[in-house]
Amino acid sequence: MKSSRFKVTPWEVEGEVDYGKLIRDFGVSKLDEKILKRIEKHAKELHLMLRRGIFFAHRDLDWLLDEYEKGNKFFLYTGCGPSGPIHLGHLGTWLFTKWLQDKFDVELWFQFTDDEKFLFKDKSYEEIQKWTYENMLDVAALGFKKGKTHFLVDTKHANLLYPIAVRIAKKITFSTLKASFGMTNEDNIGKIFYTSMQAAPAVVPSVLAKRNIPCLIPLAIDQDPHFRVARDVYPKLGYYKPSVIHSVFMPAMSGPKGKMSSSEVNSAILTTDSAKEVENKIKKYAFSGGRDTIEEHRKLGGNPDVDVSFQYLRFLFEEDDKKLERIEKDYRSGKMLTSELKKITIERINAFLKEHQKKREKARKEVEKFLWKG
Ligand code: TYM
Repeated sequence: MKSSRFKVTPWEVEGEVDYGKLIRDFGVSKLDEKILKRIEKHAKELHLMLRRGIFFAHRDLDWLLDEYEKGNKFFLYTGCGPSGPIHLGHLGTWLFTKWLQDKFDVELWFQFTDDEKFLFKDKSYEEIQKWTYENMLDVAALGFKKGKTHFLVDTKHANLLYPIAVRIAKKITFSTLKASFGMTNEDNIGKIFYTSMQAAPAVVPSVLAKRNIPCLIPLAIDQDPHFRVARDVYPKLGYYKPSVIHSVFMPAMSGPKGKMSSSEVNSAILTTDSAKEVENKIKKYAFSGGRDTIEEHRKLGGNPDVDVSFQYLRFLFEEDDKKLERIEKDYRSGKMLTSELKKITIERINAFLKEHQKKREKARKEVEKFLWKG
């Protein structure tokens, strides 16, 4: 999707995204009060990313919940494109996925698209393999349920994925992909096939069980276009269309334009950053909604809506709505300075990363157990 002001594709997010426009252009539905109530009824609470509108849209979630209420359990499917280090934006999506797994007690299929990143990035096959392993450590560290979580690596699990992908690929034309992703005759042919690989895991459990099982895909909205293309295909092959739940993007350090991305080192906080690196990055690069001088800030107040440190607290790092509200109020009124706000954010992120990094080390022994062995 490209408009004059912003662009959202699975490989590029540029400009200030208008999510209302994306809802209309992608043809997704807003997560409204009614559907949030339905989720809350089953989960007994709402995750902060639902309460705060960070997950904001869906496809066919009503249908998925209808099926769940009839006793037809769904499975979760999400993934990671391994081409560099993991950042906080990825983690938000996956921590929400973990919450869904815990609350609904369901299986998770997690795809590592090493083929995608090799085809789309100017990196060697060997480097992509290194990142696949490194990224798996981060995912394993999040504490997904063992025995109910299955990692698929595209080139390693080709025996399972490829027969499904070719069936999907046969029903997608090059002109559809050109229209959806702006591909041209100069793009390598692997890129053209790739959408069918990302579409495949949405039916893997149905293929294995030889019966249709509903699927829910949590993602940030950049990944939706693959499924928009593939959703027309699944019923033609006799499968359910997967449901999707979409989040907005965690902003880059530089502010509300674009998204946090590991291809720009200073735009992102990485899971492997040291406490000192986090502190330096936030102090130096985190876009501030504060005023130019302390006097002005005290008088006119700051703007938390664009302040990146505040947004990180809102996305993930301040669970308590009341505390978040107080920080917002104090910053808006000028009572809290940018330096004070940054200090809170640095402390929160570093407390989280300290634990995450310990679990990430332990995951070296566990990652094997998550890999699908079927
Ligand atoms: P990748 O590795 O680019 O991103 C992994 C997941 O993180 C989300 N994401 C973000 N969420 C919030 N804020 C951000 N700044 C941010 N940056 C990335 C992505 O939307 C994604 O959900 N092709 C995929 C891998 C994949 C996949 C899937 C993703 C394979 N199957 C199924 C979602 C669902 C990729 O390269 O994701």
